[in-house]
Amino acid sequence: MENKLHVVHSNSKFESPQKKVPFQRPDLGEEEINEVVETLRSGWLTTGPKVKKFEKEFARAVNAEFAIAVNSCTAALHLAVEAMDLRAGQAVLVPTMTFAATSEILLYKNAVPVLVDCDPVTGNMDLRDAEEKLKTLKSGDFTVGDIKPLEVVGIIPVHVGGFMMNIGEVQDFAERHGLWVIEDAAHSFPAAWRPEATSEWQYCGENTASVTCFSFYANKTITTGEGGMAVTNNKAIAEKIRLLSLHGLSNDPWNRYSFEDGWDYRIVLPGYKYNLTDIAAAIGLHQLKRAEAMRREREAVAEHYLDALGEIEEIELPPRNDDRIHSWHLFPIRLNLEEFSIDRNAFMEKLRENGVGCSVHWRPLHLHPLYAEKFGWKASDFPVATQLWKRILSLPVFSSMTVSESRHVVDTVKMLCRNFSTKAAKLVA
Ligand SMILES: Cc1ncc(COP(=O)(O)O)c(C=O)c1O
Repeated sequence: MENKLHVVHSNSKFESPQKKVPFQRPDLGEEEINEVVETLRSGWLTTGPKVKKFEKEFARAVNAEFAIAVNSCTAALHLAVEAMDLRAGQAVLVPTMTFAATSEILLYKNAVPVLVDCDPVTGNMDLRDAEEKLKTLKSGDFTVGDIKPLEVVGIIPVHVGGFMMNIGEVQDFAERHGLWVIEDAAHSFPAAWRPEATSEWQYCGENTASVTCFSFYANKTITTGEGGMAVTNNKAIAEKIRLLSLHGLSNDPWNRYSFEDGWDYRIVLPGYKYNLTDIAAAIGLHQLKRAEAMRREREAVAEHYLDALGEIEEIELPPRNDDRIHSWHLFPIRLNLEEFSIDRNAFMEKLRENGVGCSVHWRPLHLHPLYAEKFGWKASDFPVATQLWKRILSLPVFSSMTVSESRHVVDTVKMLCRNFSTKAAKLVA
């Protein structure tokens, strides 16, 4: 995958007359629609030939050996920890700056999420804090709420917004501490990293973890409406995830109902109902073909924002890095609150009033009642995330965004920075 910028930013698929820019808009073409219709007419709706093809092509796209399609990234993460034999009481390192799913799958198993603070620049998990949390855990008197975890067995990094962590550092860290790595790659397809400019690109999912879990939720970089994929290079793990994804049955329905294969099956493990449908895979097959083109369109929007908003003192923009191919699922900005007469929530209200959809990624887990009350995490355990979350908001970025839409976002952000700045004179228009 080359990392050239898509210079022409001229997608005119949709012009919004009232200057309302949604936060996200799925980018679906005639191919997706026709393939869904064809599937509906085919007589086979659930997991079958389209899912098999989607799995094969997705595995090829990320240079992985095995891909198992499921109905969400959450399901993929759940099956990944099942495949690692995660047991009750065991602890796993997860970032506090993430979505509910990354950590809730540990709670399904009565395992203990050990939350980790984030890096101030990328918002990704801070491995130095992970080291500190491990030290405290090993000191013996560490409890999470009133739970005393058993050993720490794994780590689940998240590539926030599609900006990959340094995989070399994650793997070194995991090796030093004897941990497995499951990647929450909900945002990071297609994405890649390299340690330095002369190194080969390594795709997210290309042996970057024991299992890498992607999301195809409606607002993701490629979508199947709802959907996910677990990829791995380990055959035994792949087989276990596949078994668990459909009730632990030894034979899937496409084979059982075909005229060639046997109708019989055996229940081998207590599994789940996480399989993807052929209707969803029909969408995914065409999204996959356009994935790099759509990434470049998002990148063009991101470049526009970076160029047009780069000089504004009141805000900070996400980092550029030549050693990352960024999926640009998100474009998070940070308000320098001391420069504003309003806070983040009021700024977002103003954006919305002016027709700019926006969101926050995320209220960190430790500031949610479940984690604060059940597990006793305190704001002071995560000084970076606690401060950061008050300042962050995500601007719209999606592949079908028009030039006039991205200009409207830029103009609105500039106008708000000007109108609500404590030092209006310093604004570079
Ligand atoms: C970081 C992260 N992990 C996991 C998920 C869950 O993905 P899904 O909705 O496909 O289960 C999300 C969803 O937005 C997410 O942002």
